[in-house]
Amino acid sequence: MIPLMKNAFLNEYETKKQLAEFILQTERLSMDQKCLEFENNFANYQGRKHSILFNSGGSANLALLQASKNLGLLKSGDLVGFSALTWSTNTMPIIQMGLVPVPIDCKVETLNVMSHNLEEKLQTVNLKALFITNVLGFTGDLGKIRKICDERGILLFEDNCESIGSELKEGKAGNFSLGSTFSFFVAHHMSTIEGGAICTDDNNLAEMLQIVRANGWDRNLTTAQQKKWRDKFDIRDEFQAKYTFYDLGFNLRPTEITGFLGLNQLKYLDSTIKKREENYIHLEAAIKNNDELFTLDRTHLSLLSNFAIPVICKTPSLREKYLSQFSGAGVEIRPMIAGNVQNQPFYKKYVEKEYPLPNTDFIHDCGFYCGNYPELTESDLETLKGCLSKY
Ligand SMILES: Cc1ncc(COP(=O)(O)O)c(C=O)c1O
Repeated sequence: MIPLMKNAFLNEYETKKQLAEFILQTERLSMDQKCLEFENNFANYQGRKHSILFNSGGSANLALLQASKNLGLLKSGDLVGFSALTWSTNTMPIIQMGLVPVPIDCKVETLNVMSHNLEEKLQTVNLKALFITNVLGFTGDLGKIRKICDERGILLFEDNCESIGSELKEGKAGNFSLGSTFSFFVAHHMSTIEGGAICTDDNNLAEMLQIVRANGWDRNLTTAQQKKWRDKFDIRDEFQAKYTFYDLGFNLRPTEITGFLGLNQLKYLDSTIKKREENYIHLEAAIKNNDELFTLDRTHLSLLSNFAIPVICKTPSLREKYLSQFSGAGVEIRPMIAGNVQNQPFYKKYVEKEYPLPNTDFIHDCGFYCGNYPELTESDLETLKGCLSKY
């Protein structure tokens, strides 16, 4: 059996032991110093000014759009483009925030929205924002996409929940936009059990995200920031300030366990990303040798941070064949995330307008994935190579 993932943590046993010790000795488990420390380290890792922790990647997506609305960057009814191949909680917040979702087709060979897909959509639709997903460690040509967005005044956000650590020649995935989101859910590259983050260089967005994350209050802001908000609303004493709520928010806070685990797991991230890339390259050789499968294009990536091996067959009936090969060998597999999200029940319920998305339909009908993690053994890799061969 090759499960989707083997361990909850990188360096599993030591991490669990240290977590148990941390819980026993810490005085505080709700959001505090460990979260702050991890936020600083993660911002440094990513090379961004700010990192704000959340209790999940989905929460981070929700908060990013709520904060953008609070700041007046987006308003109800604005058209927001998104990658048609994505995860449910990338698209759901667009609907929840009263924005209009516009799916953009992907390129089969990269699994991602490319600049030409965006340009094609912009011929008929005026987007206010683009919330692009970097899918399964792969990305589109983000440098060109950023340029188009800059030229046309389109706000760019990245859902980087599946691609932490991937790099293009122009920079790290997650650093091409005003704000990018990350997930630290167990099955991803590094885990805080549940958890997420937003990275940004923008001071106002970072400040608003802290308000959105915690009830709409100012408690996690600096003294200078608090003074600004309190002066604006004439809040004169600390007693009143405790329960003053400045703008729309939620409670999406992480715990100190998230902070502790994040600090711990970040130490192993780079070396394990390398190992996952090696696994991918090893298996890619088998894919390249098989003319029933597409070889994905990663030529624009200088580092592929991959936690799931996508298998794209040339026809739906070939997919049936490879699904049987993988299942028969005891390999756990999944569909290509949410497929064409327009076909999902939640989307049909809330969105009337449909767009043709032939490539995303193809990926949905002909693709699937299995796990890729550092604990895959030589023998696991041989089994996977066997599953990827034509026979
Ligand atoms: C692209 C994408 N966005 C958002 C999420 C949500 O992350 P989380 O599970 O941490 O809420 C996921 C989860 O897998 C994802 O793949």
